[in-house]
Amino acid sequence: MRVVLLGKGGSGKSTLAGLLSAELSSRGERVVAMDADSVPGLAQVLGMTPTDDWFLAGMATRENGGWRLEGSPADIVDRCSQSGPGGVRFLQIGNADATVKDFEFRRESFLDRWSGTVAFNTVSRTFDDEGGWVVVDLQGGTLQVAGGMVGSSGIAVLVVEPFAKSVLTARRFVGMGEWPAGVRLVGVANKIESADDQAYVETALDELGVPLWATVPLDPAVRQAERNAQPLVTLDPDTPAKRAVAGLADRLTEAARASEALPTTSSS
Ligand SMILES: Nc1ncnc2c1ncn2[C@@H]1O[C@H](COP(=O)(O)OP(=O)(O)OP(=O)(O)O)[C@@H](O)[C@H]1O
Ligand SMILES: [Mg+2]
Repeated sequence: MRVVLLGKGGSGKSTLAGLLSAELSSRGERVVAMDADSVPGLAQVLGMTPTDDWFLAGMATRENGGWRLEGSPADIVDRCSQSGPGGVRFLQIGNADATVKDFEFRRESFLDRWSGTVAFNTVSRTFDDEGGWVVVDLQGGTLQVAGGMVGSSGIAVLVVEPFAKSVLTARRFVGMGEWPAGVRLVGVANKIESADDQAYVETALDELGVPLWATVPLDPAVRQAERNAQPLVTLDPDTPAKRAVAGLADRLTEAARASEALPTTSSS
């Protein structure tokens, strides 16, 4: 099952993507976590060592004015993913920090890196691991969604904070036009501190016709761990944010089971 996290910048996509990946993997599920952001948020949540690599460089080559992937999306995941905590396979578009700093981007390796971006975007839009989970963490805002990065199947999780601007971004997502028929849009309220916060997000999602699947509290343990550079996946399972993400994992698992149980249409 594909799960794509989207929402306003800073709403908590990477935090929830990382915790969700670790939670599913701790239940014995196969998980590929994909970070579509060149500023490494998901990597930090998972506690991956930062590098300057552009991991999928060379995985797409120019052909007839377009690009050809060097293998199937599953091959590319196998060849380019790193092992993360608890057996999560982690695939990252790249890390822009050092490359942007020394302008390498504009020099000879540009095409190589760009080919990695093309390959990553194709893989993250299309890869679905049957019987396993693919969790895609997008950049903030609607641009990647408008560019088709949600793909055409799975569950798109809209992360909404109890702030007007976050709700406005959610409204923009929903109003973007017709979503692919195979994508189910659901909401998660994040950084919730009170019943008022909860009601605010609930009402907003209700007006948008998006079901609320989980409420994640504003969790001081998350804040503290982040300040201490402690990977969030190592937090105690009883911290409120982790418990809430476990609830989201239950909900997603239920949906995955239900979709497996759907009768398949056959032309014969
Ligand atoms: N439930 C929570 N409780 C406390 N802090 C949180 C919670 N969720 C996220 N945060 C904090 O909010 C900040 C933004 O979170 P995160 O990086 O996950 O957002 P994002 O949506 O991925 O951002 P970006 O759009 O920049 O990629 C981080 O400092 C993170 O630790
Ligand atoms: Mg992020």
